[in-house]
Amino acid sequence: MPFTLPPLPYSTSALAAQGMCQETLELHHGKHHNAYVTALNGLVESKGLAGKSLETIVAEAGKAGADGLPVLNQAGQHWNHALFWQVMSPKGGGDKLPGNLASKIDSDLGGLQAFKDAFKQAGVSQFGSGWAWLIIGSDGKLKVTKTPNGANPISTGEGTPILGCDVWEHAYYLDFRNVRPNYLENFLNKLVDWEVVGGLLDKGGLTTGQTA
Ligand SMILES: [Fe+2]
Repeated sequence: MPFTLPPLPYSTSALAAQGMCQETLELHHGKHHNAYVTALNGLVESKGLAGKSLETIVAEAGKAGADGLPVLNQAGQHWNHALFWQVMSPKGGGDKLPGNLASKIDSDLGGLQAFKDAFKQAGVSQFGSGWAWLIIGSDGKLKVTKTPNGANPISTGEGTPILGCDVWEHAYYLDFRNVRPNYLENFLNKLVDWEVVGGLLDKGGLTTGQTA
């Protein structure tokens, strides 16, 4: 089965009032994410990926180091965006977290504000393109981390993301120009659907169900 572009779980205009305009979503989902899917499908045969899940491909490409980069760039970005669309919603924002997530953020990260500060700092300090993450670490504790380009915590072996924020310029330039800190603050305060993140915590992270 070729990889496919997952549909947005909302319309391209649905997040405009929350700081992500229709043009951003049309380009980001319809052009950027779609290009990663198309490029990944073009690598399935030559890289021997057939039959493997997207998660396995990302993990193996990460372990392969420089040799794995051509696959990781596309497979990682396909996975990363699949998560990104899910963790935002027109119902997102606010500080009301589901109980499981709130208590784990309290115990592992020192509370919601400390988590937000760390997440924002991760995104701001990622030099160039990349992602900020909230992950279930390999020790079972929540952690905030960041990765460059198309990598993610599955490819680095750090753990499983339950929240990710795209800090490539294509994610925020139309809405926030060069001001990445404001984009990250807006993402945390107005766009994140905490119910979805809490659900992913219960499930141990996202499984896309996509297989080459
Ligand atoms: Fe992106």
